[in-house]
Amino acid sequence: MFNKESVIGIVGSGAMGSGIAQVAATAGHRVHVFDTNANALAAAEKGVKATMAKLVEKQKISAAESERILSLFHFESKLDGLKDCQLVIEAIVENLDIKKKLFAELEGIVKPNTVLASNTSSLSIASIAAACKDASRVVGIHFFNPAPLMPLVEIIPAITTSASTASSCKALVDSWGKITVMAKDTPGFIVNRVARSYYGESIRIYEEGIAGFPTIDWALKTFGGFRMGPFELMDFIGNDINFKVTESVWEQFFYEPRFKPSLTQKRLYEAGLFGRKSGKGYYNYAEGSVPSEPVKDEELGKRIFNRVIAMLINEAVDSLYLQVATKEDIDLAMTKGVNYPKGLLKWMDELGAEQVLETLNKLYADYQEERYRPSLLLKTMVKSKKKFYE
Ligand SMILES: NC(=O)c1ccc[n+]([C@@H]2O[C@H](COP(=O)([O-])OP(=O)(O)OC[C@H]3O[C@@H](n4cnc5c(N)ncnc54)[C@H](O)[C@@H]3O)[C@@H](O)[C@H]2O)c1
Repeated sequence: MFNKESVIGIVGSGAMGSGIAQVAATAGHRVHVFDTNANALAAAEKGVKATMAKLVEKQKISAAESERILSLFHFESKLDGLKDCQLVIEAIVENLDIKKKLFAELEGIVKPNTVLASNTSSLSIASIAAACKDASRVVGIHFFNPAPLMPLVEIIPAITTSASTASSCKALVDSWGKITVMAKDTPGFIVNRVARSYYGESIRIYEEGIAGFPTIDWALKTFGGFRMGPFELMDFIGNDINFKVTESVWEQFFYEPRFKPSLTQKRLYEAGLFGRKSGKGYYNYAEGSVPSEPVKDEELGKRIFNRVIAMLINEAVDSLYLQVATKEDIDLAMTKGVNYPKGLLKWMDELGAEQVLETLNKLYADYQEERYRPSLLLKTMVKSKKKFYE
């Protein structure tokens, strides 16, 4: 359906839209970028020029290559400027009504076979597609921030999406040098669902007074090999964004206790303690501020790691059980989307399903809370003594 000549439209020229436009233009496509806000459009144009200049300076690309990429950009002040595109990717504000209005409007502008994609992180693709007369051409294409640097892209067909729409989008994004995974249209798709426990269980451990932020971060980096501890990572992502994603996934799963947000993070969000970008979050980023030292107690560190990894693995296993994605795609998503040192299903094979189940069973017995109930597939794996990868 697509080739190098395919023209790509981008709606919304913020952080994601301008990054996705850069990826498409770098791959050789003409891109037409539209934003309702003229200042945002001008900032995106300035931003992409600055990025190209930096890449030339660092000798990552030649001056001629930079010229070629920039010549492929067209900044449009009207949505009509996207009428000749074969694929339009929407990256506007995360609001269902506004997205639906845009998709309905787009359908009246583009050709009958143009594919319409949304980069939404938390809304259902089915609900966006329902705004179109031809819902079979609507699909989710979920990039990670920053789009030019993050290798993973989740492709999300809705129940109404045609198989050819999904497969041609996957082939196109693969041709852009990205690693694509197919995910079912379920809240958080793969990454934003499975990663919730990394934050949620760590906050819970803190709330129970078992350890402080530096100790929990130290435990997961030391015994898990994670590049950033959960509190460092939440401060990096922003506690506003992280809290909102958690809240949205929880609500969309009909208040499933495993995804329940925490009051600790809600208070940080309410207080404007967003993390690095606001100068303070779980840690203080003011100049001269020194974080307190972790308690480097090996037994405590391993206990923290075992609890968090068991929750992460349980979520990955349950996602496989509920056919959100294949085992390979679930593992790829976590290593390429959030830089986990290993795929969680492979990790379960290494740790042993029995150990993971034992940790969860103990938590479930102690707390009597639904959030600790093990996935049926995990129990089956233990009974059958099977591994995901033999
Ligand atoms: N920021 C992230 O980490 C991230 C990651 C993956 C996906 N997403 C998703 O991508 C989308 C965009 O996020 P972002 O971080 O780039 O937001 P952003 O605020 O940086 O940019 C959004 C842009 O959309 C424009 N806009 C708003 N309404 C519009 C309309 N009706 N028509 C045209 N333009 C309009 C705004 O002027 C703004 O420039 C959201 O759906 C978000 O959930 C964000």
